[in-house]
Amino acid sequence: MRFKRVKGTRDILPGEALARRELEQMVYEKFSRAGFLPILTPTFEAYELYQRSTGQASDIVIKEMYRFADMGGRDLALRPEATPSVMRAVLENHLKIPIRLWYAMTMFRQDKPQKGRYREHTQIGAEIVGEAEPEADIELVKLGYDLFTDMGIKGMYLELNTIGCRKCRPGYTEKLVEFLKEHQEELCSDCKVRMKRNPLRVFDCKVKSCQAVLKNAPSQREYLCEDCKLHFDQVKRGLEGFSIPYQENDRLVRGLDYYSRTVVEFKSRLLGAQDTLCGGGRYDYLAEELGGPPTPATGFAFGVERALLVSKGEEVFDFTQSPIPLLLLPLGDEARGYSLRLLFKLRDAGISVQAEFRPGGLSRKLKHADARNAERVLIVGEDEIAKARFILRDMKTGEQSKVTIEEVQSIPELKIHPPLLTSGED
Ligand code: HAM
Repeated sequence: MRFKRVKGTRDILPGEALARRELEQMVYEKFSRAGFLPILTPTFEAYELYQRSTGQASDIVIKEMYRFADMGGRDLALRPEATPSVMRAVLENHLKIPIRLWYAMTMFRQDKPQKGRYREHTQIGAEIVGEAEPEADIELVKLGYDLFTDMGIKGMYLELNTIGCRKCRPGYTEKLVEFLKEHQEELCSDCKVRMKRNPLRVFDCKVKSCQAVLKNAPSQREYLCEDCKLHFDQVKRGLEGFSIPYQENDRLVRGLDYYSRTVVEFKSRLLGAQDTLCGGGRYDYLAEELGGPPTPATGFAFGVERALLVSKGEEVFDFTQSPIPLLLLPLGDEARGYSLRLLFKLRDAGISVQAEFRPGGLSRKLKHADARNAERVLIVGEDEIAKARFILRDMKTGEQSKVTIEEVQSIPELKIHPPLLTSGED
């Protein structure tokens, strides 16, 4: 029986896997300079962690979580996003605050699969825990903006909003609910539930008739307290200081419940329906929601699949054409054992080398070498071993010369880095 991938999952073949390693390396360098440390959290956690933080009224919790009971009857969920996990880890491990953390981890959401939306995807995220100042929000946006610019993300634009704080949100929510009640008949059944559980979530609704109603809904902007107004102004001024273009969107609330004040989304016109490349914002109350002390925080995360779609498109590294810098061609039984040992000796000296152990004489092995895209071959016969001199053949020109192992080790073209991973050159 032949098996197929589960719906909504992807095989990441070597070409894309290499592009991801390259991206992670770039992120690692940039984030490290900004003081971010890497963190990894478990792939599954208590269901309640996400229910409490991502939010009972969020689509993720209502419709998209992979929820399951283990054999001990524990109520668990595959990680749909990492912010709650990171905050839990900070609190549980008593990490000293302020702290800056970044991650590259897989997330699981049982949404309808389409281009740019998968049931398993990878996010790279950055979280600043313990900094309340607008500079932290500005720094993050600038970090993301520079990263996406360096990646060559096409058609990018940034949307920005503030959704207030504990002081001013209740007053606004009251007005919003009043408005929604007046238009109850025109709302979809989901929005009627959202109105009761978390009214702000109605702005996530994709139903056209709801969107038409919401166009006239009151704006949070009119109900902001002085502190929130000042914070938002400072964030905007900071972005302008860096000449980062942004669009204010007072309907941007993000699909998760823990946000307060600043919310941001980087989008790309090239992504079609799934146009959000990166989302984030402030979440000053999440730590308390999870039983910790008051701890302001802000962060963002972007989808690696989407980022690669709009930077590299289909043109990832063609791994099927990947050349072999040096291929050993052992001839005879003694040569096989010798070549096996030689492989490791050469690799220890920094040479990228493989061997062709399939049976056959020289002409057959040369054909294999050609098919495998070998650039050079080293012919290892019994005679060569005895004399410690080997035939090195350039597969393109057909030129041959007799060389010692020491001479092979000193050929600079053979000391190459793995494909694409060129940024850490020595
Ligand atoms: P999010 O907007 O739900 O935010 O996800 C972040 C990014 O992950 C999205 O902008 C998108 O690029 C990608 N993404 C989400 N779902 C999928 C999917 N089904 N398939 C492919 N890519 C997807 C969060 O998860 C927050 N934790 C972000 C954050 C960090 N806020 C503060 N800190």
